[in-house]
Parts: sequence; C-alpha cells; structure tokens
Amino acid sequence: MKWTAHAPSNIALIKYMGKLDETTNLPSNPSLSYTLNHLLSYVELELAHEADKWEPLIVNEENKQFLNSSQQAKFIKHLNVIKNKLGFSGHFIIRSGNNFPMGTGLASSASSFAALTTCAVTAISEILQIPMLDQTHLALLSRQGSGSSCRSFFKPWALWDKDKVSSIDLPYASLIHRVVVVSKDEKEVSSREAHNRVISSPLFEGRFHRATSRLNNLIHALSKKDWKEAYIIVWEEFEDMHKLFETSAIPFSYMTKSTHEILEYLRKIWYEYNDGPLVTLDAGPNIHLLFRNDQKELISMIETNLKINSRYNII
Ligand code: PMV
Repeated sequence: MKWTAHAPSNIALIKYMGKLDETTNLPSNPSLSYTLNHLLSYVELELAHEADKWEPLIVNEENKQFLNSSQQAKFIKHLNVIKNKLGFSGHFIIRSGNNFPMGTGLASSASSFAALTTCAVTAISEILQIPMLDQTHLALLSRQGSGSSCRSFFKPWALWDKDKVSSIDLPYASLIHRVVVVSKDEKEVSSREAHNRVISSPLFEGRFHRATSRLNNLIHALSKKDWKEAYIIVWEEFEDMHKLFETSAIPFSYMTKSTHEILEYLRKIWYEYNDGPLVTLDAGPNIHLLFRNDQKELISMIETNLKINSRYNII
C-alpha cells in the first residue's frame, strides 16, 4: 500500500533563530512567514516488512533531489517520532523529492518535514483506523522534525509563537517570490548548528525583544499596506539574524561578496524608485525577494539587470 502527500516551503520575514528547547524545537522568539506555494516537497510512503529506509523520489526529470545521509537519518528519526506518538510499530519505505532544482541553496527542510508528517499521519491513521490529526496538530508534530516546517501548514501568512502556530489574516495574500541564487554550495554551518551557536552571541540577549517588537511593527505595517515600512523592518530583521551569526563565540557568515553586491543594488532600486521588493536572507547567501502583483515591470527590470550584469540564476 502507498500513500502520498506534498507540502510547500515558506520564507520567514521575522526569523526563528535560537531554541528554548532542542528536543521539541520550541523557538526563542515568535516568527512570521509567507508560504511559497510553488516550492513543493513530495513524500510517498510504502509499507515495508523490515526497517524503515529512504529512497529518492523523482518529481520531474530535471529536478533530481537527493537527501544526504544525515538528512535521511533525520527523516527516519522523525518518522519514528510519529510512529511512537500514534502507536504504530510497522515500517515504511520513505520516498521524497522536491519540485525545485537541487543545489539552489533553497532550504527544503520546511516543506520536506511538513510533507513527511502529513503523509505518515495519513497512512498510520488509515492503517490503525484512528481519526486524522487536524492542521494545527500536524503542524505541532512536524515542528519536532524541523521547527520552520510548522509554518508550512498555514497560508498565505503564518504566525508561530512558542507552541502556537496559525494563519494570520493580512493583506498581500498573493505575492510573487524570486530567489537570486548566488551560491549552490552546501552550507558549511547547518541551520541546526546556527540555532545552537547564536545563543553565545552578546547580541542574543536583546534578540527576543527586537524580534517581538519588529513582528508587531511588521504586522502593523502590512495591515495598513505600508509596503516601504514593511521593507525596512524585513531588511533590519535579516541583518539582525546575520549579525548574530557573525558575533557568536565561533563566528560564521553565509554572506558572500555577491550577496553584498546584490543587496547594494536592491538598496539603490528602492532609493531610485521609492519602491521595490521585500528583501530577506535565510541561513544562507541567497537572496529572497517578494514582489506585489503590480510590480511585474520592476521584476523584469531587476531580473534582466542581475542576469546580464552578473549571470546570477534567478528562480
Ligand atoms: O527549521 P530549521 O531548524 O531549519 O530553522 C530554520 C530557521 C531559518 O530558516 C533560518 C529562519 C526561519 O524562521 O525559517
């Protein structure tokens, strides 16, 4: 018997960085994200006789996405958390893949764990004939595998604070997302490691207050459709997270020379047009852009400039 599920990724505008509890991924501060409906992970589960094992799932021929061995182990560990919670002792072959190209530096853990949780709970509930969990409980279970995945269960905007996650009603329900891929290299410092290291930064002490006040200000700015104010807050927020990385006891940085050059270019766009995209970086060097639907001309201009001048890949 086989079961399938898919789930979207999300991009945080107020970042989850630092944990109160490592086992359950309870976050140090609240976060707000926009769900990326076009970046999807797919999971297929098939009943197996022996131990659980992972296999690649080819979503389409161009995007052959494979988990490395430590990611496979994390996936199997999370499946076990779900099996234990629901009281199931059988085994599965887990197949997974993404619809976005491999090695683009796009975090796939949020979408992967959301898809795995949905698929596993669906399968086990059907086998054991027990009621299916609702979205909120699925999200909380998924959080144990990857914190940020709990936000992928809600759209278009998701708000996550401690053990509460839900959608939040805000304008700009359909934004256009682009990523400027400056590096395809695998990260040297995983986000798990980043969560651990930031706690040692002297800047971490005020982080909860800065993130919380920015969250309130961002919700206010978006609610009154103050796009420029939203841009300023979102920019400050990713810089804050990256300063935590750079000032931790073992400092590290994801930003490259190209990241800085593109950020400078985007700043100039805003200066010149008094308009532009919301700009943010995750734990990586690639730059995420969110545009309003009425900014299509600006998107083509930015895409053309970045592609011609620097041959960056934009997806
Ligand atoms: O879910 P994790 O443990 O991979 O954490 C990811 C955290 C960031 O992507 C850097 C920020 C966020 O809120 O998504």
